[in-house]
Amino acid sequence: MATERTLSIIKPDAVAKNAVGAILKRFEDAGLRVVAAKMMHLSPEQAGGFYAVHKERPFYGELCQFMSSGPVLISVLEGENAISKNRELMGATDPKKAAPGTIRADFADSIDANAVHGSDGPETAAWEISFFFSQMEIASRPA
Ligand code: PPS
Repeated sequence: MATERTLSIIKPDAVAKNAVGAILKRFEDAGLRVVAAKMMHLSPEQAGGFYAVHKERPFYGELCQFMSSGPVLISVLEGENAISKNRELMGATDPKKAAPGTIRADFADSIDANAVHGSDGPETAAWEISFFFSQMEIASRPA
């Protein structure tokens, strides 16, 4: 198994519900380590830059508006197969389709207010981590 890093965002809906600690506990209980974290209130331009890959999709404007509607907790998670493990913990994008016990099943309200973001592959993870964090801000912790 490979030690990986992935970018996680606890979205404005979950922060507003005061669910940050409960969601971080899911990551830690699954063996993922938080190696960097910052609370930010993104501007629409910052959200737009982060989600630029989706700019042709019909929901792009709505997604950027939502992601800049309140504070988010952005973190780097490290661990064995961190990218796929985080995606499993998150559950399906649409909380109505998310498996019971996943973060989105338990904390998300809708496909746009869906509690968490997680990188979907190694290249995306590297790009997303470097979008928000410098190397000096990441404190790697061996298992
Ligand atoms: S994913 O997670 O990338 O596989 O999901 P995808 O379906 O490609 O969606 C990409 C992100 O867009 C969000 N999304 C939406 N926002 C608003 N309205 C609608 N209808 C909608 N559909 C998808 C979805 O939550 C994904 O956000 P992130 O932050 O990447 O999880």
